[in-house]
Amino acid sequence: MTSGNRIDFNEPIPEMITRLKSEHKKFEFDLAKIKTSIKDDNITLATEIIQGISDTIIRHAVEEEARLMRVIMRNAKEESVESIKIMQEHNWVMNFLKNRMIIINKIATSSNPDEHEQAKNDLNEFVYNLRNHFNEEEQIVFPLALKAEASD
Ligand SMILES: [Fe+2]
Repeated sequence: MTSGNRIDFNEPIPEMITRLKSEHKKFEFDLAKIKTSIKDDNITLATEIIQGISDTIIRHAVEEEARLMRVIMRNAKEESVESIKIMQEHNWVMNFLKNRMIIINKIATSSNPDEHEQAKNDLNEFVYNLRNHFNEEEQIVFPLALKAEASD
């Protein structure tokens, strides 16, 4: 396991992928709670849940880029196009967590119905994109990283 903010380069790739998948499952549990909060019109709760998992999501993404993409670029570069695109989706996630969340927080308590709707749309988009992203990683990036690691 990793300690502090350092990435553990000794954790074997297959074990790491098992761990990343279980982290996806934990994130999914929170995404489901976010969806419920949006439906209940509780934007404040939805943003609190996102803030609670924000650092973990960023760390998770950094690990994927540092370790999985490293082995893919070393041993499976000719098959890496889709995986690179999927990793680039992290930019959207980071931008949402760092910038969009500030705006959503500001309008969370807004009485302006348009702003309120916009916040809900943004939060729904976050859940949709993250679910889609995790799915793409499990279908494309993780299997390719395993294959690349095995050919080391
Ligand atoms: Fe990711």
